[in-house]
Amino acid sequence: MSQANRFSIHGIDRVKFAVDDFAQALQFANDWGLTQISVQTGDRAVFQAQDGSEIEIVLTDMNNPERRPIGGTSGLCEMVWGVSSPEGLKALALELGRDREVRWDEQGSLHSVDDLGIGQCFRMSQRHKVPAEPTRYNSPSQPDRINRRAARYEAACPFEISHAAIGVDDAGEASKFYIERLGFIISDRYANRGIFLRCAPAGNHHHLFLMNSRVPGTRLNHLAFKVRDIHEVIGGGQALDAKGWRTFAGPGRHTVSSACFWYFVTPLGCSWEYAADEDIVTEDWETTDFAATAEIFSEWTFGLEKSDGRLRGPISLSKEAPLGNH
Ligand SMILES: [Fe+2]
Repeated sequence: MSQANRFSIHGIDRVKFAVDDFAQALQFANDWGLTQISVQTGDRAVFQAQDGSEIEIVLTDMNNPERRPIGGTSGLCEMVWGVSSPEGLKALALELGRDREVRWDEQGSLHSVDDLGIGQCFRMSQRHKVPAEPTRYNSPSQPDRINRRAARYEAACPFEISHAAIGVDDAGEASKFYIERLGFIISDRYANRGIFLRCAPAGNHHHLFLMNSRVPGTRLNHLAFKVRDIHEVIGGGQALDAKGWRTFAGPGRHTVSSACFWYFVTPLGCSWEYAADEDIVTEDWETTDFAATAEIFSEWTFGLEKSDGRLRGPISLSKEAPLGNH
């Protein structure tokens, strides 16, 4: 098996949001630690993580398909996948053009939709590798930080977009487009109720998590950003908290994917997640089928109590509900 996706898709390059409170959304993206790169226009802004992965925010216009979010008046407008070869882009146009509309824009990006109508865009990736100083740990038998104090974080500065989690009516059905048409691979799953997908055999444990929603319909549940380590998760989360933004869940550590996390409720119709130390896999990764229990969400989470083996708190009450309403 090749280590690459057959269309050379290798991750999320940009996520486009449409929001009804533009000023609040911009404030949140700034506070999150992203860098605004666009000129302020009043209805459109673009932010970057360190590696060039981008967030585009536009003001919602329900009459304009390019400014219409899924699942409400604020939310996901379009997923933009990064492709590493022009041949991959052309092959995608042929593949998707078999049964749906595809459109090239002036920048050479390809636009279409998945089977649920979620806007899908493919472009030559604009992300670049950022050299990150590795976190050094003084493990009991292998000290690796000698005569150096550990890094402290006043705030987070996300390196890259990691993954998106989308609530759907039927994750098994929704996953077919990504597996059969785009060549994604299942990394882990909760039967057909929650499916973790990665673009390519080697790389992130997942770029897309499709989960059955309790609330009918399709909506972005959360978007995750990689930070360096658990200390940046905590430092970043504390900074957000101090600015008055509300925690959805965390800090904690996921059971599936091993990541440390902290989720915040955002003005973008979903939550955003700081994530560190997610599993990185190869073609040798063994897919596991987990039971979809409340406690599978995390090994531990501050603020969620365990009682009789189950979690209590916002996650167990409504893990899939629109987060903006909590
Ligand atoms: Fe996540």
